[in-house]
Amino acid sequence: PKAEKILITDGTQYREKRVVVNGWVHRMRNQKGIIFVVLRDGTGFLQSVLTNKVCEKASYDFINLGPESTISLYGVLKELPEGKSAPGNHELVVDYYQILHAAPTGEEAFTNRLNAEAEPSYLLDQRHLVIRGETASAVLKVRARVLRAMRDTFEDLRMTEVTPPCMVQTQVEGGATLFKFNYYGQDAYLTQSSQLYLEAAMPALGNVYCVQESFRAEKSLTRRHLSEFTHVEAEMPFLNFQEYLELLEEFICQTIDRILDDPVAAPLIKQLNPTFEKPSRPFMRLTYEDAIKYLNEHNILTSEGEHHKFGDDIAEAAERKMTDQINRPIFLTHFPVEIKSFYMQRVKERPDLTESVDCLMPNVGEIVGGSMRIFDMDELLAAYKREGIDPTPYYWFTEQRKYGTTEHGGFGLGLERFLAWLCDRYTVRECCLFPRFTERCKP
Ligand code: 4AD
Ligand code: MG
Repeated sequence: PKAEKILITDGTQYREKRVVVNGWVHRMRNQKGIIFVVLRDGTGFLQSVLTNKVCEKASYDFINLGPESTISLYGVLKELPEGKSAPGNHELVVDYYQILHAAPTGEEAFTNRLNAEAEPSYLLDQRHLVIRGETASAVLKVRARVLRAMRDTFEDLRMTEVTPPCMVQTQVEGGATLFKFNYYGQDAYLTQSSQLYLEAAMPALGNVYCVQESFRAEKSLTRRHLSEFTHVEAEMPFLNFQEYLELLEEFICQTIDRILDDPVAAPLIKQLNPTFEKPSRPFMRLTYEDAIKYLNEHNILTSEGEHHKFGDDIAEAAERKMTDQINRPIFLTHFPVEIKSFYMQRVKERPDLTESVDCLMPNVGEIVGGSMRIFDMDELLAAYKREGIDPTPYYWFTEQRKYGTTEHGGFGLGLERFLAWLCDRYTVRECCLFPRFTERCKP
């Protein structure tokens, strides 16, 4: 009978029917008179069995068939009897096969390239092969679904997506981490954040968001810093700081609800992070000043081994220690002006503080940074001056404050950090396809 070409993930709909499945040989086991193949097609894994005549023939044909070979398997999908288990709870009883490409066996075999004792830097060189593994591909699949969930949430919050440029002539988050390049003889940079462009798009489109790569020449090697990361950013007009914080919390929580309802992502998260629970609302609110007190009361020291004082940047290690101890999402708010970016709105009654927030998650620390923005022209000009920024290339950003200015705020979420939290990964390097970080630009 004719066989319908199907994806592994759709298998359940085709029980007892004859199908053809194309994929890569993920694993193969040859016992006397029976061959088991676990086939992988990117949508899932399928256990397949070859017995009798097909097995006899395959015993010769498969001798030089290494792992990762591409094959087509034809046969009927049978539900497994009780007591046996396989992905999808069924197996393909193969009656015919075609070998599309035979990958090497022996010394050159795929499985020999990626042994358990391999050095981390070797594994990073081999990432094009590593991503075929069960864990790595699961993280990438969750990543795709998270992006979808975030876009759906933004739609629900009545926000419009834009695609800002990556090549820019302004800095947002300080000159120290800029990647500079030659743009037809002029200096230009890879963008650190699309915030300024979102602010410019806001009067045209209202609530706006983007999913765009950001670039930072981070000199330190940490488990949560990349040189290129996927930045999910949003900007909203006509709201105050309290409303802004609620909207940010709504965005994070709605996104998580969507992911946990997602038939693809939910089981993968269960597998990667079995104890994950959706955070309870409202998130803990902690001011910077109270955080400094917390650190000192709990003897969490600065990287120089000293007690924290007002005005100190809270370094990664201290931040994570605090977040892990509290063990729930935290909105850390009201940072001092000196340790934050030039564009941040100040607190009216406390002009030494900003209307700013970092969202901290256990195991990672900061996953979101955001703030209300200075919307008064003179305050912005003074901020450029204080930071030693030449206002000339910012003319288009400054002019937002001339033609219909308003209170507004926005945030940036590091997608890889969000995933490290959600999927319980040790480092953000596991949460993107081909990570870029200090000195690594391959594969
Ligand atoms: O806190 P950051 O620097 O804030 C901004 O860039 C704002 N302009 C965003 C905005 O308001 N539109 O970065 C925002 C987030 C961080 O919380 C972190 O999750 C992520 O971006 N991030 C990085 N992720 C990986 N590697 C890096 N080097 C990162 N730098 C920032
Ligand atoms: Mg930040």
